[in-house]
Amino acid sequence: MFAQRPDIRPATVDVFVAGQPVRVPEGATAAAAVLLAGLPAIRETPVTGSPRLPYCMMGVCFDCLAEIDGIANRQSCTVAVRPGMRIEPQRGARPAWREGAVHEG
Ligand code: FES
Repeated sequence: MFAQRPDIRPATVDVFVAGQPVRVPEGATAAAAVLLAGLPAIRETPVTGSPRLPYCMMGVCFDCLAEIDGIANRQSCTVAVRPGMRIEPQRGARPAWREGAVHEG
């Protein structure tokens, strides 16, 4: 019924996941970039070290916590990608606030 015109390519954004470049559709979330990157885990739980990946993709499970552009504990499923974004895995518990981190409004 609907077909994409062959001359129109979807807009993409280049980000870095664990230091590796990943191209994702514009408007995708950082969690989607993590899944596209194929990492085995984006975080480990603080108590048992159990590996986690984004699961619910709607801000409920917190399995997608990652360090995004130097800020830890961000729910990557609620953050839209932007060019050059750096998404890093986090291991164990992280402080809620870090000296010198720039928070977005
Ligand atoms: S994937 Fe569940 S809160 Fe982000």
